[in-house]
Amino acid sequence: MTNVDMKDLVALCKRRGFIFPASEIYGGINGFWDFGPLGTELKNNLRDMWWKWMVTTPPIGPDGEPVQIVGLDTAIIQNPKAWEASGHVGGFNDPMVDCKESKKRYRADHMNVYQADGSEYYFAFDKDASTENILKKVEKFYKKNKIEYSQDIGVHKTGTYDKYFDGDEVVGQTDIANFIAPDTYTSGTLTEPRQFNMMFHSFAGAAAGEENKVYLRPETCGGIFLNFKNVMDSSRVKMPFGIAQIGKAFRNEVTPRNFIFRSREFEQMELEWFCHEDDVPKWFDFWVEQRKKFWDFVGIDLNKIHFLDVPDGDRAHYSQKTTDFEYQFPFSGDGYDELEGVAHRGNYDLTKHQEHSGVKQQYIDPVTNERYIPHVIEPSCGLTRGVLALLSEAYVIDENRPSGGYMNFKPSMAPKKAAILPLVAKDGMPEAATKLYMELREHFAVDLDIKQNIGKRYARQDEIGTPYCFTIDGDTLTDGTVTVRERNTMSQERIPLDQVLLYLREKLAL
Ligand code: GAP
Repeated sequence: MTNVDMKDLVALCKRRGFIFPASEIYGGINGFWDFGPLGTELKNNLRDMWWKWMVTTPPIGPDGEPVQIVGLDTAIIQNPKAWEASGHVGGFNDPMVDCKESKKRYRADHMNVYQADGSEYYFAFDKDASTENILKKVEKFYKKNKIEYSQDIGVHKTGTYDKYFDGDEVVGQTDIANFIAPDTYTSGTLTEPRQFNMMFHSFAGAAAGEENKVYLRPETCGGIFLNFKNVMDSSRVKMPFGIAQIGKAFRNEVTPRNFIFRSREFEQMELEWFCHEDDVPKWFDFWVEQRKKFWDFVGIDLNKIHFLDVPDGDRAHYSQKTTDFEYQFPFSGDGYDELEGVAHRGNYDLTKHQEHSGVKQQYIDPVTNERYIPHVIEPSCGLTRGVLALLSEAYVIDENRPSGGYMNFKPSMAPKKAAILPLVAKDGMPEAATKLYMELREHFAVDLDIKQNIGKRYARQDEIGTPYCFTIDGDTLTDGTVTVRERNTMSQERIPLDQVLLYLREKLAL
């Protein structure tokens, strides 16, 4: 369990300009967030690193050959037939359940159900609820309803809410009237789960009729499959190869929650790796290993990642096998929540597009002349969710400093690599600081901060995760040295002013 409190992290993100609620001056809009100046830098750093690992300098494959991956940037809105073929218009559904009393809406598969020992009542709770809150609620329910209650009454988990329903029938002997919703103390207020399609739609053109209905893509890979043939015909790729894309995706989530973890507009980084069916196991394992290395490289502690082989019945409609990378987010309690999934999509998507469009999606092996629709291994992660993992991982509480903590970003991910701070805003110090800033800004994202007392400025840099601060003081002007303050240890040393660029280069290369 992490000791980071989500409320503190969200407050820091707002205070320092990482992430703001979208449309905040109008009361916000549920499921949408705006990235501020530093959040945008952090997100771009993670995005650029993924692109470098995948497209600019892709890895060496399991056979010792460099792998080939090309990038795309496809339209968010495509012909709606594409989403009918992919199965999203018909089947991209979440089971939702309403509470008639609180008017709140829940995901039926995200609500855990607990039965009170020896009683007919079933309590539904959000899956993140703590044991302490569950027991408190159960006790309060009995007291409010004047039902005899013994301190010894315990609860045991019986499954998720959706598992009680099979079509329209309540499974077994459980009566829907005996369920108690997460936010009420009356039984029988929850509805049966209903399927809810998560595709956002709009209308292309002036008329707003069914014939003009279009969808915002729910996953970025859609545009990759649509361009499989274009890429094969226009680039010199040979099987196996990959096509990568980073961009926005939209899902009308029933319950957007946990800050940017589950939002309605988010970004994904996806690779579709096309290969022969016989080679699937080799490439699946390879990509799982690569993705582990990536998260380690950007500063995520692999001990906080749990690898889940997603069981039958829980996988997406296209997947034959999926390994989820689940991270211990601050809200995950004792558990883990999905950061990335590596899926074997079979040749589901290309086959469906071939069927629906009538355009062949085959690959012809130039050596053997074998014609086949390739299989796909898909490492797919949320860029925005990745940012949340970086923020959660970096957050360090430290009572001994004025800021109360610091963001321990790996320097390559940090929004600012260094800050230049004159000790006071007089005696030639701002001028010397500006000169150093002008030199460094040619090479790195650096901050020049002149006003306020030095303690407050260090506190700001700690909270935004700047690894190094260079302080210009009276001695700088006489002996040509500056103080370097290291973020994590707060240790300080003096180095020659003309060595600062070299010093930073060496430190950031680590
Ligand atoms: N193309 C496969 C695909 O989209 P997914 O598991 O539905 O698979 C992949 O999504 C990743 O996208 C997830 O692991 C997660 O990181 C991110 N993601 C999915 N829904 C999201 C949401 N509502 N908000 C933020 N990130 C989301």
